[in-house]
Amino acid sequence: MEHALFIKLGLPADEPELIAEAQVFEERFHRLLNELNRVKKLNPELLDDLTAAVEDIIAFKAKILRLQLQCKILPGSNYPLLLDHIRREAERFLGLLTSPVPEEPIVLLLQQEVFWLRIMKEHIEFIIHLLDPSERELIEQAEAFRKTFSRLLETARDLQSMQRTKPRNFSDVLPFTMNVIRHTVELRNFKAAAHELAELCELLGIVASPLLLDHVRREADKFLNELDNLLPAVKSCDTSRE
Ligand SMILES: [Fe+2]
Ligand SMILES: [Fe+2]
Repeated sequence: MEHALFIKLGLPADEPELIAEAQVFEERFHRLLNELNRVKKLNPELLDDLTAAVEDIIAFKAKILRLQLQCKILPGSNYPLLLDHIRREAERFLGLLTSPVPEEPIVLLLQQEVFWLRIMKEHIEFIIHLLDPSERELIEQAEAFRKTFSRLLETARDLQSMQRTKPRNFSDVLPFTMNVIRHTVELRNFKAAAHELAELCELLGIVASPLLLDHVRREADKFLNELDNLLPAVKSCDTSRE
């Protein structure tokens, strides 16, 4: 729902049809969200509606990105990488809806880290580009985060690649993950602080809505939450292999 809102706010004013299409998606997801809040259990019919809506918005995001790449529409303020970012997020959501993941905990952990670290790194890049150039202190802080998260992402990809040789014990993954958690908590707090500044009208930049900063903060919390859920299983596998 929020992705549809962000796309709508970023579309150029001379594209009323695409703006209307984004609005329809926003309303469609709003209704689904209300419905999900009402029910106790996800029934098959609702799951079908949800899956169809996610498939449709993936196609919509891809269509707008394609139009931009082919220079068929003006970019407005939707960065191509932002469109690709929210398309990937929707793809992941669709994957979670349609295929349960019975992977080995350590494989799943590394998958989550590679996915989310890329997302976290891109959030920082978007924030850097949406802040006013005069916000030098915040930009400097964000630059430091960008370096840290680029490095973490690169390492996560290396570890994921090494894990494919199926070692009996891969003890580097746990300390790496603890490091990821520490930095993600810091990034989460940075996003929360930026959101607060935007709400107080104390942030210069072209962030379309303060909600965007809250959105990326919630995604950092989601990442931390997924790691938290998986860590006990990874830890117990680790000791059983020693
Ligand atoms: Fe998102
Ligand atoms: Fe995101």
